[in-house]
Amino acid sequence: MPAFKTVRGMRDFLPRDAERMRHVEQVSRELAQLYGYEEVITPVVESYDLLAAKAGEEIRERMYAFKDLGGRKVALRPEFTASVARLMATKLRNKPKPMRLFSVGSLYRYDEPQYGRFREFWQANYELFGSDKPEADAEILMLTNDLLTRLGLRNYRFKIGHMGILRGIMGQEGLGEEQQNRIMQLLDKKRWEEALTVARSADASQNCLTTLKKVFETKGKDAFQVLKRAEESVQEYEKSVAAVENLREILELTRESGVKLEVMIEAGFARGLEYYTGMVFEPYVPEIEMALSGGGRYDKLIELFGGEPIPAVGVAQGVDRIVLAMKKQRGPPKIAKEKVVVIPVDEEYVAKAMELSSILRNAELSVEVEVMRRAVSKALSDADRRAVAYAVIVGPEELKEGKVVLRDMKKREQRVVEIKNLCEEILGSFR
Ligand code: HAM
Repeated sequence: MPAFKTVRGMRDFLPRDAERMRHVEQVSRELAQLYGYEEVITPVVESYDLLAAKAGEEIRERMYAFKDLGGRKVALRPEFTASVARLMATKLRNKPKPMRLFSVGSLYRYDEPQYGRFREFWQANYELFGSDKPEADAEILMLTNDLLTRLGLRNYRFKIGHMGILRGIMGQEGLGEEQQNRIMQLLDKKRWEEALTVARSADASQNCLTTLKKVFETKGKDAFQVLKRAEESVQEYEKSVAAVENLREILELTRESGVKLEVMIEAGFARGLEYYTGMVFEPYVPEIEMALSGGGRYDKLIELFGGEPIPAVGVAQGVDRIVLAMKKQRGPPKIAKEKVVVIPVDEEYVAKAMELSSILRNAELSVEVEVMRRAVSKALSDADRRAVAYAVIVGPEELKEGKVVLRDMKKREQRVVEIKNLCEEILGSFR
């Protein structure tokens, strides 16, 4: 047999990395509970048509799509939003609104593998259905900010825009949806010149081209000043003005509720997915060029899937990239939980060592028993190598008096302690 490797773009997570991924997953799940988002679990395999409907050209082309043995055209999900919107259009359609739903798991895109870009990756996804009010958008921004803070990230900045600004201009100028989508895709890739070329070849008026160009250049960190400039640039386009006003309301609300968001407002910011209708955003850290997460408002998707018109806004936190950012900013991880090893001095004391390990685990300590029957000195040097906090050495002398040896691996000190006090002795030192 050949030496098997993972398939290109697919990764194994060895223990330390698996622990990091699960940590981000756990914190995002806790946050979901704190904000009232209930978890739903949808399948990895969905109908191709559902996933392709509004995914945008780029994702559509990169889907793992195939015919199953029953001849159905299916694909591995490239995102959660389509699946959760399907639920809202069907099984959950009659549930009272608002409805907040959380999902976490793996997604698949045939992207070119590189740093921060994988073919299998994870998202922690939050969708808020039923409200078209700015507080719903503000909640999604706040929640994302909360997650990144709780994970200890620093210096991140939210790039924020509004799809209504560009669509307002192009719609009023008579550009068809397909052309608009094409332009949005190019803008998502920061290919502004090409976007203008497409607009030009779609017979956009000179006024339209000039306004688009002005909008692309309207960006900055002072949110309200940028919005003022944006409003001036799009005055002739009613829907664009309304979009700027909506973005202002969202940002005012965020500011007034005491959340300090570092922002970069870009009036010409677009995201590749085609379902967005309102505010869109992506947080970045200076150490990584790629967005950590992505989100926005999409008020027409549930309707498109045959449901009632239900406004929606959501975000997908990119777990893999968040882990990369944590590695860059925080350096080597702390040991998640301090470990204890229990070492019997010889085989006669194995059972006692196992018994003690159970007692320690019942006190929520992470405990490993020496299972290799190595000499105490060997087991201790192995514990040292693995940054274990305490070793409990079980031998005849001490046991006779109901005691064991407790060794502090970091201080390299040991003392004899009563078994009945063992948990307290260890836990006390961690507090
Ligand atoms: P998205 O921007 O396509 O949005 O993806 C969100 C995040 O998923 C990205 O910011 C990134 O962290 C991560 N991601 C995407 N592709 C890859 C990849 N190939 N490798 C590693 N990470 C990746 C969505 O998926 C929307 N469904 C977000 C949303 C939810 N909008 C409203 N609700």
